[in-house]
This record gives sequence, structure tokens and C-alpha cells, in this order.
Amino acid sequence: MEPQGTIVFSTVGLLYYGFDVFSTPLPANLDAAVNKLTERRHTDGTSVNFNAQFVDEGRTVAFVSERTGASRLYLAESPDHKPKALPNIPESLHHDRPTVKNGLVYFVSAYEPPSEPFKSWSAVYSARLDTNETVRLTPPGVVDFSPAVSRSGEFVAVASYGSRTWKGDFHELATEIVVFRASDPSRRGVLCSHGGWPAWSGDSTVFFHRKAEDGWWSVFRSDMTADLENSRGPDAARRITPPGLHCFTPAASHDGKRLAVATRRKGTNFRHIEIFDLESERFYPITDLLNPNLHHYNPFFSPDSVYLGYHRFRGESVQGDSIVPNLHSVKSPVSGIRMFRLHTTFPSFSPDDNFIATNGDFLNTPGLMVLKSDGSKRWTLLKESGAFYTVWSPTENGVIYTSIGPIFESSKATVQIARISFDPNDLTDDREEVPVAVKILTRSDAGNNAFPACSPDGKSLVFRSGRSGHKNLYILDAVNGESDGGEGIRQLTEGEWTDTMPSWSPDGELIAFSSNRHAPSNPDVFSIYLIRPDGTGLRRVHVAGPAGSSYVDRERINHVCFSPDSKWLLFTANLGSITSEPVSWPNQFQPYGDLFVCRLDGTGLRRLTCGSYENGTPAWSSRGGPDDLGSLSLRSPTGHKLLGLFEEPLWITCDI
Ligand SMILES: *[C@@H]1O[C@H](CO)[C@@H](O)[C@H](O)[C@H]1NC(C)=O
Repeated sequence: MEPQGTIVFSTVGLLYYGFDVFSTPLPANLDAAVNKLTERRHTDGTSVNFNAQFVDEGRTVAFVSERTGASRLYLAESPDHKPKALPNIPESLHHDRPTVKNGLVYFVSAYEPPSEPFKSWSAVYSARLDTNETVRLTPPGVVDFSPAVSRSGEFVAVASYGSRTWKGDFHELATEIVVFRASDPSRRGVLCSHGGWPAWSGDSTVFFHRKAEDGWWSVFRSDMTADLENSRGPDAARRITPPGLHCFTPAASHDGKRLAVATRRKGTNFRHIEIFDLESERFYPITDLLNPNLHHYNPFFSPDSVYLGYHRFRGESVQGDSIVPNLHSVKSPVSGIRMFRLHTTFPSFSPDDNFIATNGDFLNTPGLMVLKSDGSKRWTLLKESGAFYTVWSPTENGVIYTSIGPIFESSKATVQIARISFDPNDLTDDREEVPVAVKILTRSDAGNNAFPACSPDGKSLVFRSGRSGHKNLYILDAVNGESDGGEGIRQLTEGEWTDTMPSWSPDGELIAFSSNRHAPSNPDVFSIYLIRPDGTGLRRVHVAGPAGSSYVDRERINHVCFSPDSKWLLFTANLGSITSEPVSWPNQFQPYGDLFVCRLDGTGLRRLTCGSYENGTPAWSSRGGPDDLGSLSLRSPTGHKLLGLFEEPLWITCDI
């Protein structure tokens, strides 16, 4: 039987993006232009719109939008009209980087599962604009990112990961620049053995980015011979941009005289688009003059190089969405499952499924909130930040457990398990805040105690504690907590490794948790383990492959929880690898974090999310299965204000 129900989960950062596609006309003489730049918007302010290319001399753009709950491809002629859908692969959750040329749209998608785990699903496709007929251009078993189409449309360049499984890289992907003819995609030439994000000037010159040996991201150039290779060999490329600043995600003008790049410089906190003039070797700031305090991403030129496009936060007071709804419907690949993204962390359902408890985002208050599960209303229970994780008592409608203290801390930091009680009758439409009683259940000298999960009878909590110096699981009296004399608590697992984020099965039989006990010295590998609440029957769930296979020790699996029928496990994992070049995105701490489900024995693995975001902290309710699809309707627009405040990848800015 297929898994069923409603899944809510968190996505890192999305709340803040609010991207639209913009462009500015560029005069021939950039020195004279700097005071006169103007900007216009191409997309309509709905959802997140990004990674565009012009399809004509500066009016229409092809772009990616998430308006349907999956990333799909569209054409926009004006911000005042609804965009037109481009051909998409109906079952795909992910489409990116469209280029329209000669009656085709070229794009990258990730929907065909590879034959092995830890291999990216990304591949390049083309679709006919008249018939939607789609062809995979990437050979079977090969991974390609970041496609770019040459001026005439004859050639396609990609950043190819080849047929290897993913090695865990994401700061800079180990890709090579590969070129093929659109008419003969099986014959591929390696233009350069180290580089990403290719950009054509004309039909024979390719610019791309790479992190140079001196540590600066820089743009390089290769020129292609008639047989699709670099005449000086795959290791030869000419560096174009100097050290001292990061330059990435290039676009090139048709005459090869100008590059547009995103830069990170000392002394500014923002990513900006600049023009680099190849003859004078001078940089010209562009977006810094237009919007100094916003990030700008992934530039592109019109075919005659008169317009320079990019995407950025649309702004707080412009036409378009300014509120992100509390719950966002996203496309589910499993017919019996509905999925909703929320913009807070660690959700859990109330016993009657009518409410969701959730935390803020670690930095911003509030610490604990309750949301109506149709998304229409949100209440604050703990205003202060510093609470993380929630589990609703399965037997008491007015009790939520959480952990209070700093997240991501050592075993000795003081973090305590708290029982938060409130009167459910206070969850009324006219209130914003609900009074609570906070009872601390763990001793103040007991180190780092977090991630409580409740037994179905409501009497016990399983949680992880660092009190012994290692993070192991303990079982605690859910009402009275532990006493100074050591009553009310017992240790469930023990060893010099990390056992964490337990989940109690709704039938009471099992506790699932993440652990690196098979590789205690490695803080980056976690797999799922199951144990009975009495401490017997410990076993590992081999998700990526059978026991002993080379795959299972590469698993990084966290945030495991059970399906309502206790037959499936839901978790976030690195099994699907990377979907796009992370340097072209705002910061995602684990851009390889996608949701998966499998049965308790590790079989039946299904990928539920696919894209470039970090997804995690899911909760699963029995509501909304095929018999109950109507009852969880979403009402807008209440939610979070879009702010456009988000971080650059820390691994880029730390080098400046
Ligand atoms: C092609 O796809 C577009 C966009 O999804 C759709 O509107 C159109 O009806 C499709 N055309 C054909 C011939 O299937």
C-alpha cells in the first residue's frame, strides 16, 4: 500500500526570497551611464520567480516560477499579465534555467531516478514549443547542471558531473564544462575539466566560473574547436577576472566584449551584478547603483546585449505578493500524500489534527506558535526565541513539549525539556497570544536535553541528553519530569556517539532515531535506527542499500518520524545529492536535504521533494488522504511578511 496523509515540513530561507526578474538597459558608454540607470520588472510578483533568459530583444523572458508548488517554466511579456506556461514535464517537481531558442525550450529537470543513490537526478532536456515533445539530451546515467545554449542554438554547454556518484561536494561542485550539438547530444566534448555555469558568447567561446587556486571565484574562458574541444586541452582555460573579489555566474555579451557577473567584494554585504569590460579590464557597478542593499543573482543579456537582466527580492511595497502564507501547498509525487511547506521549524500536529505547533526560525521570535492546520490563523505561545522542537501530547489537547535553550550546542550546554500547558479554548480568532504555564522537566545541571517525543499514552517522553558527555536517548516521566534523586528517568541507549531526534511510533511499539553509532568519529553521517521502548530489539534501517553495501555508510539521515499507521518512516536525507549549483543560490546549509519515505525495513523508498532548497523537520498527519481530501482547505492570506533579508552562503563570504 502507498503511504497516505498530510505532510508539513520546513524549507530554509524561502520566506525571505520573494524574487522577481528585472532588467536594465545598458548604454554603449558605461562611464556616462552610471547615474542614469533605470530598472524594470518582467515578472508579476506572484510566488518566487528567478533564473531567467531573454527570448527576444528585451521584452519577453523565460523564467522559473514556484507558483504551482513546484518549480516550472514560464514566459513573461509584462509584469501586468499572467505569465504563459512553457512546456514542462508534468510529473517533474523541478525545472530550472530555461532557454528558448529555435522553437525549443532547453532546461534542466530532475525527475528520472538514477540507478544508484547519491547520484544527482539533474539532467538537461529540450521540449518543442508547438507539441511539447520532450527529449532528454543528457545521456542515461550522466548528471548535468546549468545548461547554456549558444547564440545560433547549435551548441549546448553544461556543467557535467559525469556518471559518478556525488562525493559530498557543494561549496564548489566537481563539474567539467561539456559541450554537445543540440542535433547530436550523444557526442560530447570536454571543453574544460574544472568549471561550472557556462555562458556562451557567439558559437565558439564559453565563459564559466571556478574557484581559482588563490581562493577567489573567477571567470575563465575557453574557445572551442570544430570537434567540440578546447584546442589547448581540457585543462587549459584563460582566467579573465582578477583575484581580490569573487566573480561568479557569468553571462557574456554577443560580441565577447563584456561580461556580466555576480560579485562579492570586501566592504559590501550584498551580492551585486557588475559589468566587466574585457578590453579595459574594468568593472562597472550596476545593481549597486540601483538597489545597494539587496542581493542580485544570475545575470543574463538580451541577444543584442542592450539589456542586462537578473533576479532579486521584489521589494516590500510593490505590486505582488508581500505575504507568504503560513502553509504553502507543494506538489506531491505520491497520490495519497498531500504536502505543505511552512516557513517555521519543527511542526507537530495536535491529537485532533486541527492545529500545528511550531517554532520560529531560531533567530527571530517567537519561540513557540500554534497554527490552525488550514493555515488561516497563528497564535504565539512563547514570545522569546530559544525554543526548538515541538511534540504535541497525543492525549492532551493543551500540552506541547519543547526544548528550551540554544540549538546546535555541545552536550554540556544547558538545554531543558519543557512541558507547555495552555487552555485550548484560548485559541480564538480575536487573540494573537495565548497564556501558557511552563514546567521544566529536566534538572538544570543535566546538560543538553532536547528533541522530546511523546509515547501514545501521553505518559512518557523519549529525548536525547548530553548529560553523560555523549548524546544518547533517555525516557522521562512526561508529567512530573525527573527528580533530583534520579526518579522519573531512565537511559535507553548508551555509547560514545550521537543518538538524536527520536520519534515514538503512534502504535507505541518502536522508537526511531538518528545515530552515527556505526561511525562515531564522523559527525556528518547519520542513519535511522529502531529500538523498542524497553531497550530491546535495536536495529538499523538500511535505506540507501543493503547492509554492507558501500552506500549505507554515506547516509546523512535526520528528522525521522513515523506515518500515522506506524508503517512508514519519513525523514530528510542526502540520498538525492545536489540539484543545482549552490553558488547560484542564497544560503542553504544542506542543499542536499530532501524528504524521503520508506518502510520500516528500508524498502519502498520514495523521494518526496526535489529542488535546490534545504527541506526538513517534517510532521505527518492522517488527514487529507484520498478519503479526506477536502477537509484541509487552505485559507489565505495570513502569514509572514516578505522581508528580503537572507544570507549569502557563509562559505563564500568567509573568504573575503
Ligand atoms: C503544451 O504545454 C502548455 C503549457 O503547459 C499547454 O498549455 C499546452 O496545451 C500544451 N500543448 C500541447 C500540444 O500539448
